[in-house]
Amino acid sequence: MPKLEDYIPYLKKIWKSKWLTNNGQFHKQLEKEMAEYLGVPFISLFTNGTLPLIAALQAERITGEVITTPYSFVATTHSIWWNGIKPVFVDIDPVTCNMDPNKIEAAITSKTTAIMPVHVYGQPCDTEAIQSIADKYGLKIIYDAAHAFGVKVNGESILKAGDMATLSFHATKVYNTIEGGALVMKDEKTKQRIDYIKNFGFAGETTIVAPGINAKMDEVRAAYGILNLKQVDDAIAWRKKVADQYRNTLRNVDGITFFEDIEGVHHNYAYFPIFVNAEKFGMTRDELYFKMKEKNIFGRRYFYPLISTFSTYRSLPSAAPGNLPVATKKSNEVICLPMCMGLTEKDVKRVLDSIISNQKVL
Ligand SMILES: Cc1ncc(COP(=O)(O)O)c(C=O)c1O
Repeated sequence: MPKLEDYIPYLKKIWKSKWLTNNGQFHKQLEKEMAEYLGVPFISLFTNGTLPLIAALQAERITGEVITTPYSFVATTHSIWWNGIKPVFVDIDPVTCNMDPNKIEAAITSKTTAIMPVHVYGQPCDTEAIQSIADKYGLKIIYDAAHAFGVKVNGESILKAGDMATLSFHATKVYNTIEGGALVMKDEKTKQRIDYIKNFGFAGETTIVAPGINAKMDEVRAAYGILNLKQVDDAIAWRKKVADQYRNTLRNVDGITFFEDIEGVHHNYAYFPIFVNAEKFGMTRDELYFKMKEKNIFGRRYFYPLISTFSTYRSLPSAAPGNLPVATKKSNEVICLPMCMGLTEKDVKRVLDSIISNQKVL
């Protein structure tokens, strides 16, 4: 959170102007500063990270079927469902946990119009492979980049991949505006359309150009966001230190695996997932998760259960566990360890001790 004393002058300005929402000065300022910070051409702020997914599908007039991953937060698939589109799940890559590009072509039918991959934990998808499939079949790509704030590959923002990319600024994210989100796009015309869609479709006082929704960010949160943007580099640096401390110890623990940094990638350390191999570690993921909880250490089984197992989706043919063996395995092995700015070395050691103390003694 920004310092309260830094926030108060912004609140005073809002109270004085009484401009509370609808593209106010802080909204405009944050859009400009964020586009610069992220190195993207156009961005539109939203009230959370779910509505830009829904709006992007609307703006691209996506229908029929959309290929997606079951290994994500449920909002990814819900956004497809809310547009009356059928989600088609494909399995993930065992190394990155992102949609496996080798599995996409087999899932394409005459009804497929788009692909919605997720940069899970901020790990970049194989954007080139996905793009070449989309080009071959004339499909749109909307990336759910909720976890990928500030992630760069060879100096370029990962948010530039595909037709559009969404962000979430939920309180738990690397960069937060309490609740909030954004859509990143390539051209001004698309931004204009998205700006209409997030404001009921209004393109003037009396003109409605699309079946829009209300998804605007207000001034109070935009101001909070301006302040948090100033400290996001510090937040990422802090998280990197935490990740390094986790890695240094866990490298020596049999049965626990995790992601290492990838050369050429500027990571944001949004999450620190570990994967528990029950046989080697001597305890299942769930056993470890509940043991940690007993010690007041709250990891998250993120993403468990798989989206494809929820009642809305489980009867889809692509949701069959046999179609998703890698995602099913990862989902049964994962725990995201505590990760945030402010976590001390002592805190991290406590988390590590709670894992090591359960290790199988040979
Ligand atoms: C991958 C993914 N997509 C979408 C969302 C939805 O974002 P929000 O909670 O801001 O609506 C989240 C939120 O956690 C997420 O993790």
